[in-house]
Amino acid sequence: MQLTPAILEPPVVLSNDPPPPPALAEGLRRHQDGQLEGAERIYRNFLRDNPEHPQALAFMGTLAAQQGNFQVATELLSKAIQRNPALADPRYCRGRILAIHGQLSQAVTPFSFATALGHPKAGEELESLLTQLGPQDRVQSYRIRANSHYSRNQLELALQCIRDAIRTNPEDISNWLIFTQFLAHIRFTRRVEPDLLADIRDAFEIKELDHKHIAGAAISALMHGDSIATLRTAFAQDGDPIDYLRRGLAEGALRPLTEDSLFRKILERSLVNSPEFEHLLTGLRTAILLEYIGNTDHQPKLLGLISSLSQQCFLNEYIWTTTAEEGEVVRQLVGEIKGLAENNKPVPAATLAIVGAYQPLHRLPCAMWLQTQAWPEALAGTIRLQLDEPLQEQRLRTQIPSVLPVADDESEQLRLQYEESPYPRWINLPIQGDTISLEKYISRIFPTLTEAERRQPDNPQILVAGCGTGLAPNHLAQHIKNASVVALDLSLNSLAYAQRKSCELSLDNVEYMQGDILNLGMLGRQFDHINCYGVLHHLKDIQKAWRALADCLTPNGTMQIGIYGEIAQRPLEHARLFIDQGSYGSSLDDIRKCRQDMIAQKDDTLILRLTESPSFFNMSDFRDLIFHYKKRFVTMVQLRNMIAELGLQFIGFQHSDPSINQRYLHRFPQDTAMCSLELWEQFEAEHPETFSSFYNFWVRKPN
Ligand SMILES: C[S@@+](CC[C@H](N)C(=O)[O-])C[C@H]1O[C@@H](n2cnc3c(N)ncnc32)[C@H](O)[C@@H]1O
Repeated sequence: MQLTPAILEPPVVLSNDPPPPPALAEGLRRHQDGQLEGAERIYRNFLRDNPEHPQALAFMGTLAAQQGNFQVATELLSKAIQRNPALADPRYCRGRILAIHGQLSQAVTPFSFATALGHPKAGEELESLLTQLGPQDRVQSYRIRANSHYSRNQLELALQCIRDAIRTNPEDISNWLIFTQFLAHIRFTRRVEPDLLADIRDAFEIKELDHKHIAGAAISALMHGDSIATLRTAFAQDGDPIDYLRRGLAEGALRPLTEDSLFRKILERSLVNSPEFEHLLTGLRTAILLEYIGNTDHQPKLLGLISSLSQQCFLNEYIWTTTAEEGEVVRQLVGEIKGLAENNKPVPAATLAIVGAYQPLHRLPCAMWLQTQAWPEALAGTIRLQLDEPLQEQRLRTQIPSVLPVADDESEQLRLQYEESPYPRWINLPIQGDTISLEKYISRIFPTLTEAERRQPDNPQILVAGCGTGLAPNHLAQHIKNASVVALDLSLNSLAYAQRKSCELSLDNVEYMQGDILNLGMLGRQFDHINCYGVLHHLKDIQKAWRALADCLTPNGTMQIGIYGEIAQRPLEHARLFIDQGSYGSSLDDIRKCRQDMIAQKDDTLILRLTESPSFFNMSDFRDLIFHYKKRFVTMVQLRNMIAELGLQFIGFQHSDPSINQRYLHRFPQDTAMCSLELWEQFEAEHPETFSSFYNFWVRKPN
């Protein structure tokens, strides 16, 4: 089919595009004037010397399409897009060609990109196209535009597009997933419109989402709203903020806050991850404790709020600072609760909730009795979190077999630490899509592996060594088809937490066992895949532990390792020095004090950066980050030597930021499989921020 130039318009250069070099610009001028032959001559000459020039390829592609050479046009336009994905016009032209050929669904993608990239005509074309297509194409279009805006840091536009996708199909969880991924990077700096607030609130209701990703955005939205006004004023006025808040509580001035469901959801389902908000809430907790102690008339009105605070404090493992006065009042209240329990008398719900905001209720000697009592609905979340679940864990703990002995003193120290602070405390296991075979799982992460290298059995045996509280075993058991997972750890409390989560997720393919990696040989089992993340650097002899793992890997088996990298850990050295100089011990009180002192370091940018890290806001994370008993770091050279010595094959790093691989390939195009550790070493030296504290990589045991 021969098309006239009127059907396909000449190219345009948008304001964000690079200006074409003069020779090419002359070709474009002729092209836009309708002098196609003259334009073609200039383009061909230009391309002879600059065969990869994206705009020249795009102009020539459009010209070929106008001449009816659609196949050539498509090749040239695709090449242009590949060379410069930010060019809108070749995408628009691709969309036009597809639409002209009646491939309407396929035209959605290029038109959507072109629209997001600001092409003046693409939006209108896209809309008219979408009116002829189904809702799934519309959702797809919104998603493409959302991701395109996001990749160019246009966060508001990205949010708007993904919310349009949600609106079109609210049942599709993947839209919500993208929404939360965006929110993780957004902090609102002004009042947030009510519809967006409602979407954020709704996201907290979806259990497949990782709510901790939403917390930062949700808190920043709340901080610009009205419900928080009294709390903010308390700390901004000249008088004592606690007195101010106590008056506010008595006069009902905090009612808007108690009735703000977003506020309550943040506390109940995520971690408060803003030092400023933490400061306000710590004050609120003090005011509630002091104002309401013994004041039973007022307590029911605030029960829901106290319960939410209590849940948050349990989730952050009581990392917020407390005063001696508060400690004394809480001791009195605990005494009261014990006395009432001994006499089988009802405990006021608010008293229990307030105590739960300072210490975990399951540690009270009367915890089992408390669990049998009837409590108001407003306290249900606290009872579940602080009594039902931990008491279930205590029962599960007794059923977990101890199969491998603790190898030495150092392992025993580690066991004690993780018995006290099981790591990490997680709430939701975010969904990852469908169940897939291990082979597919591997090839999605490492598409360049050969078929033989990625081959795995249909019913893979998987070991998670040092599984902690079970994020990895539960993820793998849920996500890998026909997987049987063994989850091993030194800490029974961590294992019990993990097993409770498996029960919650109805997973029956995880076998939990206590034991030391160093004694893995005694198990006499072989595994097709091993996950050992965040564990090896805790051990005195990393290579010995790694060998124990490698020995129980089947030929062609794969292993994912997460280990602290020396360069990536350097920023934390400053924090460790701060701890040494401040002579903080490792008690919970010392850790709390250290955190407060860190928050007060307004001029120390490295410490300030740490106070913004997600690991700063709960005890086990924070402890694991910088208060660890003993930690070693490896360099890339050491890694390379260890892998060689173990006879393993390095198959690649797994980055959470996909742009790292793109940048690496740009720097070292010769390493298409991206598995040269020598080149990665060079890359890291040039970009020390590449690995965020961990080297997260996979190795394979050759056949
Ligand atoms: C930082 S946590 C990591 C937990 C989990 N892999 C994750 O990434 O969520 C380290 C875990 O390794 C466990 N661990 C340390 N040394 C171990 C050993 N020798 N054998 C088994 N588990 C060990 C600890 O008990 C702790 O639960």
